[in-house]
Amino acid sequence: MYEELRGKTVLISGAGKKTGIGFGIASVLARCGMRIVLADIPASCAPSASMDDCCRALREQFGAEVHGLPLDVTCQDSVEDAAAFMKRLTAGEPLHALINNAGIMLSAASIAETPLTDWQKTMDVNLNGVFRMMRTFTPLLSRGSVIINMASRAGKRPAAGYSPYSVSKAGVIMLTKCYAVEYGSRGIRANAVCPGQIMTDLQSSRYASEARQMAIPYGERLEQARKSIPLERIGTIQDVGLLVAFLISDGASYLTGQTFNVCGGQLVEL
Ligand code: NAI
Repeated sequence: MYEELRGKTVLISGAGKKTGIGFGIASVLARCGMRIVLADIPASCAPSASMDDCCRALREQFGAEVHGLPLDVTCQDSVEDAAAFMKRLTAGEPLHALINNAGIMLSAASIAETPLTDWQKTMDVNLNGVFRMMRTFTPLLSRGSVIINMASRAGKRPAAGYSPYSVSKAGVIMLTKCYAVEYGSRGIRANAVCPGQIMTDLQSSRYASEARQMAIPYGERLEQARKSIPLERIGTIQDVGLLVAFLISDGASYLTGQTFNVCGGQLVEL
């Protein structure tokens, strides 16, 4: 699959745990023979933490070259350290793909009840983090390179109780479009991916909190969620990985500045 990706390098942020979308993307790209850099907050990169497991799994299953990298997207110094690491690793070759996947969703509250600190923290990871990464990594990109930013269905449709998250993801969509029009003439593409409901820690804590609010068992909330999706299944991390692999392949060479929904048909729009 996508033979042209073999040997090329990709960095994926927020990819240090096996249950997350970042790892799902990494698994598909490792299968394509890419050199993978998994980056995540330093705590998850400590010895014996889940980052080590992720790297080992990809090496064993796909024989991939995999590196684990500490990265906090809220800290400019950390982002610059990561860029310096990538420069050494690629030894002057361009970075083929930068996948800005790191993101958080804090607990639900109405706008009046949302602490200002929750708003600021969400913006700092989800939106400012993507901006820091794009501006710092652009010198490592060249004609043919691709940026994928992880937005959300919530960035297109308001999710009641999650205003910081929805607004941050709407910002990611527009930031991606701004980048595409600024850098298209240099041959760098940028697209946003909008997952719907993908089973990860982030999504399952959302189901758990909604089940508590509705006073129903977690399993019942899960079943409601499944039935709300036209394809009648909750998405997997591989569903997102397969879309990302296509978007960074030659098959997508005329696609830039777009958003791609991966949601089982839940978001159907003109
Ligand atoms: P997750 O919570 O399982 O994984 C997020 C990862 O981001 C974690 O490994 C975490 O350590 C990392 N991270 C958090 N703060 C960071 C920071 N400051 N610097 C670097 N890494 C940081 O979440 P999931 O579900 O895998 O989400 C991945 C992306 O997909 C996020 O941007 C999320 O908003 C987005 N998304 C997820 C959906 C879902 O249904 N799971 C739906 C729509 C969007």
